Formats: sequence, C-alpha cells, structure tokens
Amino acid sequence: MQDLVRLPAGYRLVEGTPDAVAYCHLRAASGLTPKTEEQGRLALAGTWYMCYVTYTPPDDGNKEQSAEVVGMGRIIGDGGWYFLIADIAVLPEHQRRGLGDAIMTTILSHLRSRASPGAWITLMADPPGRRLYQRHGFTETAPASIGMAIFALMRRALNPGQALGPVMGNIYSRVLDPRSIAAI
Ligand SMILES: CC(C)(COP(=O)(O)OP(=O)(O)OC[C@H]1O[C@@H](n2cnc3c(N)ncnc32)[C@H](O)[C@@H]1OP(=O)(O)O)[C@@H](O)C(=O)NCCC(=O)NCCS
Repeated sequence: MQDLVRLPAGYRLVEGTPDAVAYCHLRAASGLTPKTEEQGRLALAGTWYMCYVTYTPPDDGNKEQSAEVVGMGRIIGDGGWYFLIADIAVLPEHQRRGLGDAIMTTILSHLRSRASPGAWITLMADPPGRRLYQRHGFTETAPASIGMAIFALMRRALNPGQALGPVMGNIYSRVLDPRSIAAI
C-alpha cells in the first residue's frame, strides 16, 4: 500500500489500527464527536480494515523524535457485501497536504481487491469531507435512498458530560426539539 500513495516527507501510511487513545484524540481534535476510550477500543476491535498516517518531525539533533498519529480512515464491514467508511480524519495542522486523499485511495484500493462485486459501499459525508469523497467517485444517494439516523436514542447513549462535535451539535439543534429527546 505504501507504493500506492506518495506522502510528503515525515509522513508514513500504516495499515492496521492505531491505539484507542490516538483514535479518540484524532476524532476530537479534528472536530468529530468525541468518544470515550472504551468506545474507541470497541470501535477498533470491530473494524474490518483501517489505515492511519503518522508524522515524525525532522530530528533536531537533541532528541529522538517520536511518530504521532495524524490521520486515519476505516471501514466497518461484514466482509460480504456491506461496507461503511468511517472516521476519515486528519489533524487540522496536517490538513491540505494530501493525507485525506492518500487515506481514501488506500481504503478504496483495499475494497477493490477484497470486496466482492456488487458490494454496497457507503458513508455519511460531513461538509469537510464532501469534496474529498466526490473526488473519489462518491455521489449522493438521494432521492432514491436517503440516510436516516435515530438521534434521540443516540443522545441518550452519550456519557454524562460528553460533548457533541460541531457537525452533530448542529444537526441536533436543527432537527430535534429537546423535549422529544426526553420523551424517548
Ligand atoms: C476531510 C479531511 C479528512 C480532509 O483531509 P485533508 O488531509 O485535508 O485532505 P487532502 O489534503 O487530501 O485534500 C483537502 C484539500 O487540500 C488540497 N491539497 C492537497 N494537497 C495540497 C497541498 N500540498 N497544498 C495545498 N492544498 C492541497 C486538496 O486539493 C483539497 O482541496 P479541495 O478541498 O479544494 O478539494 C479533513 O478536512 C478533516 O479531517 N476534517 C475534519 C473531520 C471531518 O469532518 N471528516 C469527514 C467526516 S465525514
């Protein structure tokens, strides 16, 4: 997979899952809904395929620099024909360098080689990712089929004090009357 994409100096694409701490940090720092470490562990364990990008700063001569996880993307799938692309995220300070593109290229290449013909490959596209997904061939499914979610149940499942990311926060405030959440 390394040969498939070219990354700027210091970056490395790795196939597999990062640890739950890095996963949770990357989600929250890139503006996705924060998750607990326990949720992160379960999410990673249930992943069908994942890749992530590390960055190692240039050696400054004084100390050995360690690699940081700065980007990721994963596929949740049944291995047969249902696949959901999720957690496409790059830390803000590493965006616009082609990392998101490299992650999508790697993920789709894996699907091309491993998923059977007729596989149903979907994602929910938050605004920051839409151009990236379109560049990789994704199109809107509406009106033939529209994405639906049960926000009220999800809201109840949040841990006390757990914040919503900007996109989900926006959806909740637009879509839901708080009284309807309490009622479920
Ligand atoms: C969506 C996301 C993953 C894209 O990551 P990224 O690493 O910035 O993606 P890329 O660098 O491949 O592409 C982003 C843009 O930078 C441009 N770009 C790529 N390399 C570049 C470079 N060296 N110099 C300048 N621009 C560059 C691309 O052409 C692209 O431009 P466009 O937006 O006008 O089409 C990132 O914005 C993100 O993490 N957002 C927050 C989390 C999120 O909402 N994720 C989507 C969930 S559905």
